[in-house]
Amino acid sequence: MTDVSTTDAALDPTARQPALDDSVATATAGGVDDPGPSGSDDTGPTGGGGRDSLTVTDNRTGETYELEITDGTIRAADLKQISAEGQGLATYDPGFVNTASCRSAVTYIDGDAGILEYRGYPIEQLAESSTFLEVAYLLLNGELPNETELAQWVHEITIHTFLHENVKQLMQGFRYDAHPMGMLMSSVSALSTFYPDANQISDVDNRQLQITRLIAKMPTLGAFAFRHAQGKPYVYPDNRLSYVENFLAMLFKMSEPTYGADPRLVKALDVLLILHADHEQNCSTNAVRSVGSSQVDPYSAVAAGIGALYGPLHGGANESVLKMLRRIGSVDNIPSFIDGVKAGKEKLMGFGHRVYKNFDPRATIIKKACDDVFAVTGVNPLLEIAQELERIALEDEYFIKRKLYPNVDFYSGLIYEALQFPPEMFTVLFAIGRTPGWLAQWSELVQDKEQKIARPKQIYTGHRTRTFVPMSER
Ligand code: CMC
Repeated sequence: MTDVSTTDAALDPTARQPALDDSVATATAGGVDDPGPSGSDDTGPTGGGGRDSLTVTDNRTGETYELEITDGTIRAADLKQISAEGQGLATYDPGFVNTASCRSAVTYIDGDAGILEYRGYPIEQLAESSTFLEVAYLLLNGELPNETELAQWVHEITIHTFLHENVKQLMQGFRYDAHPMGMLMSSVSALSTFYPDANQISDVDNRQLQITRLIAKMPTLGAFAFRHAQGKPYVYPDNRLSYVENFLAMLFKMSEPTYGADPRLVKALDVLLILHADHEQNCSTNAVRSVGSSQVDPYSAVAAGIGALYGPLHGGANESVLKMLRRIGSVDNIPSFIDGVKAGKEKLMGFGHRVYKNFDPRATIIKKACDDVFAVTGVNPLLEIAQELERIALEDEYFIKRKLYPNVDFYSGLIYEALQFPPEMFTVLFAIGRTPGWLAQWSELVQDKEQKIARPKQIYTGHRTRTFVPMSER
């Protein structure tokens, strides 16, 4: 048994506050990397924290240990000094529910308050006033670009949209019904073989080149995967068009000389990409960081992230939501569906979040985007089912008790469908949006001196040291 007491200022009114007021000085004294000011009118970077401590008494030995609390965390490695089962004490945390794996200055989330900020800028303001490429620049560089910087960045992205013809051939080799996420993951991974210099991850210019290439090529890869499933010829990028217009043209253009997308739909898709651009240490970003920690090239690391995103509990949820709404079929069937969810037969897809226990701010913005898109395309008939599902769930004790609210994926699928995307493409759109975030986090990782190769511990539950049994005796 181990007793734990704390000298945290929160418990001691006479102690100083561990929050922002003294964070910078403490961070400097503690050798915490100061990410620098993040904007003109902001409250300054977080990342410091009080030098408080936690006293742990080991009841077996009577020994006490002083564990430093920094930024609301103790270092798991500090527990090693306490012995347990012949080894140092460790933490057990499946799913990382209470473990910080890095310091990051990219994205801030307050799940209880429903706050999401990229580099300190609220998501609502970015969705309203920015563009996806501008947000990508912000995530990667920490600051909004000025006019010249943005023009240069957009130019760089635009001139890297083409794929090597062999990548096209690689994609053509997939079966006619290949899932586009499988095609995307494989082709991003294949890019590492086309750009072998991408393994020079310590070279800042090289990193920048690969980052530009990947953000530029993701829509081309996504569009080729889409056309492949449709049996239609691939459409090459048109560098006269904006990022989103070009993507839509590669997806939907047929024989017309120029594909003209409705500007309201272009704006809606741009906003959706912004909303997906980063979300701090989620499953796919953790995959990118974990694989990237081996110092592999960024294409291989991002391919791992795409694999993680594909799963139905993560980015694949938007595809599952659409399939779920179709299966429910009519508002009359909602009560029996909800009963099934409460009985544990299935999940209400698009609901719940590890971090948001109030509401997902992205879902609120998406609901508004729904109106804008449906004004052009006509209302998706599944909207009525989605709204009724949301209404019933938000009033139901099961969901209230567990703090389950609609997440980003609940309504995004309805918009994607209205934009003529089949459900299999929904997660591809998520992946295109998330690419700058993955790369900003990867870039932060490779420059972070504190990072090491990701290598968790385990609690071994298997047999020990058995004698091999010959086949004849088994
Ligand atoms: N429907 C019904 N019950 C749910 C749901 C749901 N969508 N989500 C969580 N619960 C229940 C869960 O069964 C558990 O109940 P109990 O305490 O009785 O065992 C409780 O709520 C806590 O859930 P959890 O699984 O421990 O929570 P988590 O933080 O590990 O999982 C989640 C978060 C997003 C994986 C989960 O809420 C879920 O599976 N949601 C549906 C899939 C989905 O919409 N995913 C998209 C997430 S947002 C986009 C993204 O970032 O990828």
